[in-house]
Amino acid sequence: MAIKMIIDTDPGIDDAMALFYAIADPAIDLLALTTVFGNVTTAQATRNALFLLKTAGVDVPVAQGSSQPRKLPAFPPSAHVHGSEGFGTLQVPKQTAQVIPESAQEFLVRMARKHKGELVLCAIGPLTNIAAALDIDPEFCRNLKRIVIMGGSLGAGGNITTAAEANIYHDPHAADFVFRKGCNITLVGLDVTNQVICPRSYFAQLATQSPKLGGLLHKMADFYIDFYETVGKFEGCGMHDPSALIACSTPELFVTEDHKLRVICSGDRSGETVSDQNLAAEAVKVCVGVNISLVKQKFFENVAKLK
Ligand code: BDR
Ligand code: CA
Repeated sequence: MAIKMIIDTDPGIDDAMALFYAIADPAIDLLALTTVFGNVTTAQATRNALFLLKTAGVDVPVAQGSSQPRKLPAFPPSAHVHGSEGFGTLQVPKQTAQVIPESAQEFLVRMARKHKGELVLCAIGPLTNIAAALDIDPEFCRNLKRIVIMGGSLGAGGNITTAAEANIYHDPHAADFVFRKGCNITLVGLDVTNQVICPRSYFAQLATQSPKLGGLLHKMADFYIDFYETVGKFEGCGMHDPSALIACSTPELFVTEDHKLRVICSGDRSGETVSDQNLAAEAVKVCVGVNISLVKQKFFENVAKLK
C-alpha cells in the first residue's frame, strides 16, 4: 500500500523537484501540502505550492503555516539561491485556488490523529510548523508513522553558514525542540544530499522525456545551478529535498546512524546540528551514506513519466 504523506515545504526549486517526485512515485499517496517560510516568504510558499499542484493537475489541500521562526525575527528569503519568487527567473502568477481555512499546524495535528500510525510527514523546510503542531498536541509525533526531515549536517559543514544547513538555520529553536521530543525522525542532511549532485545535462534529458513538468524543472535548475557554480564546489545542484522524498519511499538506498541531536541556537554556530550522546532524548536516524546513482536514477525514472 502506498505511504500516506504530507509534505511541509517552502517552495523553492528543489522543493518543486521533491513535489513532482512525490506525485510521480506510485509508492507515495500525497494527501496534502503545508507551507512555511525559508526559501521564500510563507505567502510566496503558499502561492508556489498552489502553482505547482495546478501545473501538475493534482488536487490536494494546502494549509498555510507560520510566517516567522519560533523565537527569532523573520529572515530575508534566499533569493540568490532560489530567485526572488522561489523558482529562479520564473514569474509565478497569483493563484485562484485557496488554502484551507485551517492553519498548517492545526491541520497536521488533525491529520495525524485521523491517520494514526500511518501518516509520514516529510519536512523539507524549517521545522516551525512541526514544533507548533507539538505545542498544540504533545502526542502529535506519536500519532505519525515517522518524520523524514531534510536538514542538518553531522560532518559535511553548512550551506548557509560554515556551520549550519539552511532549514535548521532558519529556525534553530524549532529544530532543537523537535529533535528532543521523542519523534521517530530520519534526518536526510548535507552528509548525503551534498553527494547527490545533478548537472545541467541531467535536467536537459529530463525535459526531453517530460516536456511540461520536467521542462519546468529544467528551467528552474538552470538558476539553481548558477548559484551552485558560485560556491565553486559542485558541478550541478544538490538534490536536497528530492533525496528526502526518496528516503521516505526507498529507505534501503540510505545508510543511517543513531544520534541524539541538539541544535546550537545563538552565536556564529547558530543552526549547527550537534550529536550529543549525553542528551536525554531519543536518537534520530541520521543518514550518513547514500546510493548516489540509484537515487538519481529513481528520481529521473519517476519524474520522466510525468506528462
Ligand atoms: C534546504 O534548504 C533549502 O534551500 C532547500 O529547499 C532545502 O530544503 C537545503 O539546505
Ligand atoms: Ca526546501
